Amino acid sequence: MYKIAWLPGDGVGNEVMEAAKIVLDALKLDAEYIPGDIGWEFWKSEGNPLPDRTIELCQNTDCALFGAITSKPRDEAAEELAPELRDKGFSYSSPIVALRQRFDLHTNLRPCKAFPGNPLNFKDGIDLVVFRENTEGLYAGVEFNPVEDDMKAFLDSKHKKFHRFVDVPGEELAISMRIFTKKGCERIVRAAFEYAKKTGRPSVTVVEKPNVIRETSGMMIRAAREIAKGFPGIELWETNIDAMCMWLVKNPGDYSVLVASNMFGDIISDLAAQLVGGLGFASSANIGDKYAVFEPTHGSAPKYYGQYKVNPMAMLLTTRLMLEWLGETDMAAKIDKSVSKTIADEKIRTYDMGGSNSTLEIAEEVVRNM
Ligand code: IPM
Ligand code: MG
Repeated sequence: MYKIAWLPGDGVGNEVMEAAKIVLDALKLDAEYIPGDIGWEFWKSEGNPLPDRTIELCQNTDCALFGAITSKPRDEAAEELAPELRDKGFSYSSPIVALRQRFDLHTNLRPCKAFPGNPLNFKDGIDLVVFRENTEGLYAGVEFNPVEDDMKAFLDSKHKKFHRFVDVPGEELAISMRIFTKKGCERIVRAAFEYAKKTGRPSVTVVEKPNVIRETSGMMIRAAREIAKGFPGIELWETNIDAMCMWLVKNPGDYSVLVASNMFGDIISDLAAQLVGGLGFASSANIGDKYAVFEPTHGSAPKYYGQYKVNPMAMLLTTRLMLEWLGETDMAAKIDKSVSKTIADEKIRTYDMGGSNSTLEIAEEVVRNM
């Protein structure tokens, strides 16, 4: 029996997780679902959106299924803290980013496929899979503001290009570090190539900007060239992030597997999602060597909370990714086929697809079609 941490989080996360449960129950997955606390509610009441007990729950389960969370910028977050917690040094940071780093979930897999018959498809035939590095890069969280004098002096002594910033007052200077490791680059590129090989895909496109961001993007490109040598028959394409956005809108059908660092992967995965119907269809898996957290790409959509109107397809496709990772490939294939049929049938649709069916009606239809 599997043990699965059940983390609905905030807002519509709860509603789409209910939809997932309907489908999992119909599949009779042999699993215990153990609910865990995560999200805004716990930030407000405890000053921590990812309590230690939730980390422990993850340590004691096979994987986690996660709904969605609300995140707000630091100052707004501070204003919503319970009065007795204010000014005690609590500072908000995203619990999903924390989970990715805490459990070293280095590979963020985001499939974006145009299901035939989806009225929201930008073009037919799109079948992209984004591999996003998930633990480092601009998300490393090493940031400075104000920048203290000793830090400025140090950077000035180390790099001549820092010199023009040395006289900027510390409060008026902000630095966010983009940290790459060779190991981090290699493992995300390898994951992309291995996936391409397993699924018979013709190319892997590495999306960076090495002509400007020479050191970090350069490290990723070098890793890609090296690893590509071990995969004859799969072409390596190198495209800059800005051009990639343009090409994805122009000729999305030309691309197959995309691999990028954390921030660029964040950007292209939203773009790719919109090409195939938007966040209502965007599933994602955060995969490490020992643990994995599965989450739809969308957020908690506070304005729809309580209405059971958002599209649960992203969550159902995420559930499919979880089943695949667990090795339950038959069940995973059932969800995929049934989602496909439900979309193609045009009978039951949520508002984003022009219908008026509820989140749970979609799940029930997917079950019928299974
Ligand atoms: C995503 C989201 C997150 C991210 C946010 C909610 C922190 O945009 O999963 O793509 O930036 O990674
Ligand atoms: Mg994102």
